[in-house]
Amino acid sequence: MDELQFDANGRLRHLITLDGFDRVRIHGMLDRADALRRESRDGACPLDLLHGRTVINLFFEPSTRTRTSFDLAAKRLGAQVINFDIARSSTVKGESLLDTIHTLEAMHCDAFVVRHAESGTPALIARNLRTRAAVLNAGDGNHAHPTQGLLDALTLRRQRPDLQDLRVVICGDIRHSRVARSDVHALAALGVRELRLCAPANLLPESAAEEFPQCGFFHNFDEAIDGCDVAIMLRLQKERMDLAAIPSEAEYFAQYGLTPARLKRARADCLVMHPGPINRNVEIAGEVADGTQSLILDQVANGVFVRMAVLAELLAA
Ligand code: NCD
Repeated sequence: MDELQFDANGRLRHLITLDGFDRVRIHGMLDRADALRRESRDGACPLDLLHGRTVINLFFEPSTRTRTSFDLAAKRLGAQVINFDIARSSTVKGESLLDTIHTLEAMHCDAFVVRHAESGTPALIARNLRTRAAVLNAGDGNHAHPTQGLLDALTLRRQRPDLQDLRVVICGDIRHSRVARSDVHALAALGVRELRLCAPANLLPESAAEEFPQCGFFHNFDEAIDGCDVAIMLRLQKERMDLAAIPSEAEYFAQYGLTPARLKRARADCLVMHPGPINRNVEIAGEVADGTQSLILDQVANGVFVRMAVLAELLAA
């Protein structure tokens, strides 16, 4: 993937995955996000770094946070944004993905932000471009969601710069989660002390130990959260699973839901994160999601600055 993502000088060309990103590169991107936060006065003051650039949002799967924040990020940097409407496009007349891409390229654009149910789609597009446009992966199947990994790392770094001291548990549907994968890549590269993955046996990847050599594995959430500094909760990705294979939502909540009682097993100042969308009282109790330890809306806010940073790195002259 490196030869696709970086040019000969190590400059970022496309952002497909954080797999292989080192500590220095990740801190550099987070520093840029913080700098853009300051320069734009928390987003209140638009910048013109991407004046004259065109960004096309291509979301083949639903999205609230990621699509809106890419849209805002590009506009706050002065770019033009097209939110391509798949349902009203010629995709429904049978036009292939690559024919659609080449058509859009012919009108000139500088970046494609791509979300797709099929893992590998952003890389496929990047390999088949006919122009110098950049591809930004906004989530592909269960493969990767690199800007989510970066915004989660930024959210954590702002609260707890002592990353090397932190015990982090990620709990939920790890198997189908692109967020879990990108979070592990980012947090492992930043040197967190311990990364624990917790899920029912059938919601861990088949070869979990090979895929995540950096992590410890748990099936019991009470044990997994014990002594943790951070709990990252994940939604059941029902659109990617055989529904017969999971317990009822009530059973799942009883065993894997983050309740106030379970949160007490973690450290007293344990931070709670979730990429959203949350399903209240399935993977997280409403009062925990809304509680003082929750960073869920900070994650959303940081997403805009991370996406500004990535767009600036890829597109600014
Ligand atoms: C996630 C996604 O789409 O991967 N949402 C997001 O981008 N914040 C997580 C999810 O859908 O559960």
